[in-house]
Amino acid sequence: MNLAIVGCSGMGRVHAEMAANCGVNIVVCADKSKEAATALAATCGADVSTNAKRALARKDVDTVLIATPTPFHLDYIKAAAKAGKNIFCEKPFCRTVAECKEAIAVAKAAKVKLFVGHVVRYFQEFEAIREQVQAGKIGEPGFCKIYRGGIFPGGPKSWFANYKMSGGVTLDCMIHDLDWIRYVFGEPQRIYCQALMRTKPAPMDYSQVTMRMKSGLIATVIGTWAHPQGFRVKAEVCGDGGMLQFDSAEAPLNSMVRDTGNGPSMIVPGSPVDKSPYQYEWEDFIAWVETGRKPKVTAMDGLKAVKMAEAALESAATGKPIRLLGEAIRRIDND
Ligand SMILES: NC(=O)c1ccc[n+]([C@@H]2O[C@H](COP(=O)([O-])OP(=O)(O)OC[C@H]3O[C@@H](n4cnc5c(N)ncnc54)[C@H](O)[C@@H]3O)[C@@H](O)[C@H]2O)c1
Repeated sequence: MNLAIVGCSGMGRVHAEMAANCGVNIVVCADKSKEAATALAATCGADVSTNAKRALARKDVDTVLIATPTPFHLDYIKAAAKAGKNIFCEKPFCRTVAECKEAIAVAKAAKVKLFVGHVVRYFQEFEAIREQVQAGKIGEPGFCKIYRGGIFPGGPKSWFANYKMSGGVTLDCMIHDLDWIRYVFGEPQRIYCQALMRTKPAPMDYSQVTMRMKSGLIATVIGTWAHPQGFRVKAEVCGDGGMLQFDSAEAPLNSMVRDTGNGPSMIVPGSPVDKSPYQYEWEDFIAWVETGRKPKVTAMDGLKAVKMAEAALESAATGKPIRLLGEAIRRIDND
């Protein structure tokens, strides 16, 4: 696989390392900032470009990684598809559902593979929760709560602080959890959201999404870009037979089965993460390209996650819950 990286800062750097670990040849690092492209290219012996469209269309490139700010994803997806390259695009897939639809259409027409980096599906702790839920370890799940919080990314001048570009913590960050919840518990029925999205005196975003899923499960996602420092994730799934908990600041994964009086609670040993979830993500993408094995994430999953986040932002703006029942989701399925 011969890769062009478009967007060479935060995620571009992570993906360069993970792709290289998987034996991918990084041909060119492209960024509108020459400094960013040059710094990354120096770490992997690649060429430098400040003209991303020309770089991704090179004959010696067959795959494009897109790690620019979200509003530019569609433009580069279109350019890469037009040039016949397979695409690995960071999440959020695109800034709007309409853009996601256009991206899927152009990739389909060009017969190229289009992958969206919903990395939480590759976190071993989240995968362990999913496996235990699906194996019925906690009975019928009724409630899922996820907290994801960290410092404000990039500082006050970064594109993340431009909420029109980034969609704030709700679209940019909580989309990880919205996607994972849909992955594990099925389609959402209703979404309600309250979000801070403050920029003055300092940027600070805090958001709370509550969803009822079609299955009846209630899910709450709290996301914050208001931490003084660091990053923390907590997840809890409660069923009629037990509860699963994960806290990134504490033990790996804690699983407690309801004590029926027949014995002690079961504590499942944690899973010390052996490999970066971003590397699992690359392995899955490469297997899709090389063997045709379907990856854990499809572009349609990326679109549906943006749809959930868009609904959450609409709810936050209007103060009303948004209905996402079957009809809207099915309409997308049929596109
Ligand atoms: N999966 C994850 O865990 C995760 C984490 C953070 C960010 N992201 C996503 O990854 C994407 C990139 O985020 P980031 O944190 O790397 O941002 P960043 O600001 O650190 O880096 C973006 C880079 O893109 C370059 N750039 C900006 N506009 C460009 C353009 N039009 N053409 C070419 N280059 C351009 C910038 O110069 C910068 O080097 C976003 O979509 C973001 O939501 C994903």
